[in-house]
Amino acid sequence: HWTAEEKQLITSVWGKVNVEECGAEALARLLIVYPWTQRFFSSFGNLSSPTAIIGNPKVRAHGRKVLTSFGEAVKNLDNIKATFSKLSELHCEKLHVDPENFRLLGDILIIVLASHFARDFTPACQFAWQKLVGVVAHALARKYH
Ligand code: HEM
Repeated sequence: HWTAEEKQLITSVWGKVNVEECGAEALARLLIVYPWTQRFFSSFGNLSSPTAIIGNPKVRAHGRKVLTSFGEAVKNLDNIKATFSKLSELHCEKLHVDPENFRLLGDILIIVLASHFARDFTPACQFAWQKLVGVVAHALARKYH
């Protein structure tokens, strides 16, 4: 369900993404903007202020892990459900993350990409990425259905 243009827009942006920087920033923004998401990360130590969250090494490391995993979706655009089947099990059945949070993180990732790539992140590009984060959120929520 991807056009050749969408695939091209997604992979060309992904090729420029610094997974460590953008992953850390996206997870930190999630924890700051939607503070209830902090409850899943009680083992991460100090999350008491935006500065603490941004400087927290566990947030950085986990953000990198999450965005690296997101990269698997980019590499497997036609097979995202199967790619995230195990992770869906983890998030749904073990961690009990409300699937609404997958959507929130996806939207935040778009904001991070738009702020990093500015004018290169065109409306067509945003459209393709919005579609991608939706498919990923859906795939991760699958074990709830
Ligand atoms: C763990 C990916 C969204 C909460 C993980 C892991 C990955 C991952 C790869 C590590 C799994 C392992 O160690 O085997 C993703 C992706 C997401 C996403 C691709 C969406 C694009 C979320 C959201 C939350 C969340 C929105 C909560 C608000 C957690 C928690 C862990 C985890 C609590 C375990 C952390 C730990 O203690 O090590 N996730 N995740 N994830 N994820 Fe997610």
